[in-house]
Amino acid sequence: MNPIPIITAPFAAVTFVGAGPGAALHLTLGAFHALQGTDVVVHDRLVGAQILALIPAPICRIDVGKVGFGPSTSQAEINAIIVAEALAGRRVVRLKGGDVGIFGRLDEEIEALEAAGLSFAILPGLTSASTAAAAIGQGLTRRGRNRSLRILTGHDMEGFAEQDWRGLAQPGEVAAIYMGKKSARFIQGRLMMHGADPATPVTLVENVSLPEQRVHSGTLANLAEIALCASGPAVILFGLAPRRAALALETLQEARA
Ligand SMILES: C[S@@+](CC[C@H](N)C(=O)[O-])C[C@H]1O[C@@H](n2cnc3c(N)ncnc32)[C@H](O)[C@@H]1O
Repeated sequence: MNPIPIITAPFAAVTFVGAGPGAALHLTLGAFHALQGTDVVVHDRLVGAQILALIPAPICRIDVGKVGFGPSTSQAEINAIIVAEALAGRRVVRLKGGDVGIFGRLDEEIEALEAAGLSFAILPGLTSASTAAAAIGQGLTRRGRNRSLRILTGHDMEGFAEQDWRGLAQPGEVAAIYMGKKSARFIQGRLMMHGADPATPVTLVENVSLPEQRVHSGTLANLAEIALCASGPAVILFGLAPRRAALALETLQEARA
C-alpha cells in the first residue's frame, strides 16, 4: 500500500484535535498521526478510553476533564496549561471530544495562544450530531424537508439557553441539541408554547459510537420522559425518527466477519 500523505501542520505549537464521539473507528487519520507525534496531550473527559489508548505511553497526558455540571478545571487554568506547555517548547495536542469547533470553547483557547504569540493548527473531528444521525439511519438534511440544520445547546453560562423557538417549531425543522438532557422539559415547553406539533419525532442518542450506545425515540410530547432514560452524554435529534433498517456499525462488522 502506498503511504498516505498526512498534512498536520507539524510546526504549530499547539494542534487542536477533534477526537470524534468516542470510538476509535471515528478518529480521523490526521488526528491519529497528531497523537503519535506530540510531546503532551491535554484532553477533555469526553475523550473516550478507546482514543486515549492510542496515545503512545511516553507521551504525557493532562486530563482537564469536566463532569457535567460538576467541578472542572477552569477555562483560565486550561488556557494557562496549554500556553505554559507550548512556551516550554513541548509540542501540544489539545484533544477535545467530537469536533473542536462545536461547543468546545475553541476560540477562547486560540485567543490565549495568540496573546502569547504561539502558533496553532486545527484538525476537526466528527461531531456527535452527525454520528448520531448515522446511527439512526437518517440524513441531517433532506430535500423538501429541511433547508437548514440547527445546532443548539440546551444550556449556556446563564442556565437554560433561549433559542429561536418560533422558527424551530415550524413543520419539517431539524435540530441537533447538545447538552440538552437537563433542559429537556424546558425545551419541550418552549417548543409547544410556540406551536410545535407534539407528534414531532424526537430521538435521543446516548453514548454515540460506543458499546454503551442507546437510542431512545419518541415525540416532542414525551421528550422530558425520554431524557430521563439517558445516563451518558446524549444528543437530541429534534425532527428525526430512527429508521427501522439502520444497523449499528458493530452489527455490520460482525455480520461480515
Ligand atoms: C461540551 S459539548 C462537546 C461537543 C463536541 N465538541 C462534539 O462536537 O460532539 C458536550 C455534549 O456533546 C454531546 N456529546 C459528546 N459526545 C457524545 C457522545 N459520545 N454521545 C452523545 N452525545 C455526545 C452531548 O450533548 C454532550 O453533553
